[in-house]
Amino acid sequence: MSKDTVTITDNRTGKTYELPITNDTINAIDLRQIKVNPDDFGMLSYDPAFKNTASTESTITYIDGDKGILRYRGYPIEQLAEDSNYLEVAYLILNGELPTETAYAEWEYEILHHTFVHENIKRFMQHFRYDAHPMGMFIATVAAMSTFYPECRNIADPHNREIQIMRLIAKVPTVAAFSYRHIRGLPYVYPDNDLSYAGNFLNMLDKMTEVNYKPNPVLERALDVLFILHADHEQNCGTAAMRVIGSSQADPYTAMAGAAAALFGPLHGGANEKVLRMLLEIGDVKNVPAFMEGVKNRERLLMGFGHRVYKNYDPRAKIIKRIADEVFEVKGRNPLLDVALELERIALEDDFFVERNLYPNVDFYSGIIYQAMGFPISMFPVLFAIPRTVGWLAQWQEMLADPAQKIARPRQVYLGYDERDFVPMANR
Ligand code: CMC
Repeated sequence: MSKDTVTITDNRTGKTYELPITNDTINAIDLRQIKVNPDDFGMLSYDPAFKNTASTESTITYIDGDKGILRYRGYPIEQLAEDSNYLEVAYLILNGELPTETAYAEWEYEILHHTFVHENIKRFMQHFRYDAHPMGMFIATVAAMSTFYPECRNIADPHNREIQIMRLIAKVPTVAAFSYRHIRGLPYVYPDNDLSYAGNFLNMLDKMTEVNYKPNPVLERALDVLFILHADHEQNCGTAAMRVIGSSQADPYTAMAGAAAALFGPLHGGANEKVLRMLLEIGDVKNVPAFMEGVKNRERLLMGFGHRVYKNYDPRAKIIKRIADEVFEVKGRNPLLDVALELERIALEDDFFVERNLYPNVDFYSGIIYQAMGFPISMFPVLFAIPRTVGWLAQWQEMLADPAQKIARPRQVYLGYDERDFVPMANR
């Protein structure tokens, strides 16, 4: 008769242990009873980089990496990208259900009317160097925002948390746009609350002397869809950082600055920037075979390829490829697209990539669109961080509400010296 347990035999002692299985998972703490001697610490599981460890139960985002499936709260990403908009998806991710018409109107109004930042935040940003990386500015400014809202440290109060969540979602485009205007040496543009979330962002980036800025509807929609695609991605590096920092009961601005710092790395959300630099370096389709030989010889990575979870085409990359054409119709075709398509063509046929299930991820094509839209390359990670804000905050809320969660504190396998006596400097 089948039972939801697993039996482990410890061949050191001959003892067997029956551990319960819940949701195809054993609880790592159940291993602790496995000991050779009663005063042993007990067995740990060893999992560097968390390759096979679930750190939480979650109801937010579902990924089936083998089939290339991504769903927020059960809704397929393809349907959300087609039929929804970023603020509606943000509401869904945070609250678990799609909003009613009234709830959406209220939510949209609140977000669009909290876009301004304190003038001192503007002044704070003005003191970065003229060539500061926008993501560095973004991370530092989000951290600094906690000092403007000291009540944000009261994380036990759900109403207070809601206010900070709304503020963060509303204000990150403003901080991002200020960082862009800063590196361009242009005056910062204040938000226009009559525009959509993406439309206002474009306004703060591009507005010059016109009284009423009107975003191009194709670019506004493309950006909104890109925001939907980046909104959450379950327990990735940045989100894990958000949960770990949040588990110490740090305020959401501080935790989010840490999450954004994790996102900045080139193996994570910084990959979109690296992809573009790689495509520029390759320069021409004729240089692709030599570049790919270098990848296969392990001299470098093919940026924008591979994923810890997806062992199939990243569904986000498919959608991005589609919207690229719409952007190119407005802004002209990005010539780097040919280089990217040739890299992809070879990678999908070559044994090295096929055997390792290396497919394009979300960052492979997003940079090509961002560049066609006129964004400087260093802005790309920031464009990832704006929409991921909602995912980080939803995961943070879920972590705080979960009675199983405590302060994050991994164990280690200590392999260093046993106790030894201090040697005075003269005797070393
Ligand atoms: N180019 C060449 N080889 C690769 C690549 C790549 N982009 N990615 C993985 N491999 C190889 C890797 O060398 C290893 O080969 P072997 O087993 O022979 O040693 C095998 O594929 C498995 O890779 P891994 O490094 O063990 O996989 P991982 O799950 O630890 O890393 C990854 C995932 C995304 C960090 C990695 O694929 C990578 O570095 N990709 C390039 C950076 C990138 O595009 N990052 C964006 C990820 S998607 C957006 C996001 O979620 O942030």
